[in-house]
Amino acid sequence: MNVNGQHYQSIWFDESDGSVNIIDQTCLPHRFEIASLKNLQDACHAIEAMQVRGAPLIGVTAAYGMYLALREDPNQLAVALDRLAATRPTAVNLQWALSRVNAALRNTVVAERAAAALQQARAIEEEDSAICEAIGENGAVLLQEIWNAKADLSNPLNVLTHCNAGALATVDWGTALAVIYKTAAAGVPIHVWVDETRPRNQGASLTCWELAQQGIEHTLIVDNAGGHLMQQGLVDCCVVGSDRTTVSGDVCNKIGTYLKALAAHDNNIPFYVALPVSSIDFTLSDGIAEIPIEERDAREVSHLEGIDEYGDVQQVRLCPEEVAISNYGFDVTPARLVSKIITEKGVFAAEQSLLQKLRA
Ligand code: MRU
Repeated sequence: MNVNGQHYQSIWFDESDGSVNIIDQTCLPHRFEIASLKNLQDACHAIEAMQVRGAPLIGVTAAYGMYLALREDPNQLAVALDRLAATRPTAVNLQWALSRVNAALRNTVVAERAAAALQQARAIEEEDSAICEAIGENGAVLLQEIWNAKADLSNPLNVLTHCNAGALATVDWGTALAVIYKTAAAGVPIHVWVDETRPRNQGASLTCWELAQQGIEHTLIVDNAGGHLMQQGLVDCCVVGSDRTTVSGDVCNKIGTYLKALAAHDNNIPFYVALPVSSIDFTLSDGIAEIPIEERDAREVSHLEGIDEYGDVQQVRLCPEEVAISNYGFDVTPARLVSKIITEKGVFAAEQSLLQKLRA
């Protein structure tokens, strides 16, 4: 991804001191800051505090967390696996990455564990970037088809997205936003409707920042505006990411995704979900019943964070002090509302008979 014209990944290994660098996403969009992870505690904190977030990036960070833990103490393998697995519950990439690192360590002597974990983490990082680029290329074919079929070419292709499924949610490129970047690169004029994505506002703070850095035209909207825009013919398709997708094609993504899919279905608008195969949980087939939904701190709902006229970041309370609050982080969109699933291995209908073939 470009940041002020310079290429960055969301996470990278620092050869100089063996630490792991991340873009600290809790500072965006107001400040661009790099944080350095030096041990297991730093890696767990980065995931829990959402300095890094987005399913693929959580997985890569967890893999690096294993390396950092084993570098501190090669005997804390089980502790590190448990601690990292408990950081966030919904994104399956976390379990996927930890299982992959653990499998690589099975035949490794204790003294070589940190080096073996590092090798895996670096491989996962490198693969993630290539996978996301391939997702973008596969998805761009769909969006180009919509553009080619569009009667009125005086307006750009209007794509609605939710949360941030961009380069900031992966190592580079993103999933949903990779589709947008590759479509734009193919010469299609494109405009993105960005849902603000309450309560943490990843759309407002991260997607708007990321799209601006890549020079993609976009407009920020409140979460409840999507249905109205669709009724007015102002949305050509929706593209979102996923934190965990069942083998039957039920898609779990940031809270509010389901309502966008319902509105898209009602308005006959394609609803695409872009995801790496590592986001498919091949053990689950009923997303609504089986996917664990993260519940987060009430303060994310009661308070809003922003920058004041003096450039200081402030939090303000929106509601009465004593109010009951629930804060579910994700919801499940049933497969019947998903038009296509876009992966690095191709584009598929959200059907078990097709998705189960993607199991390695
Ligand atoms: O809570 P977050 O910010 O980690 O949630 C992120 C999302 O919901 C993304 O849409 C999802 O992880 C897909 S990322 C390519």
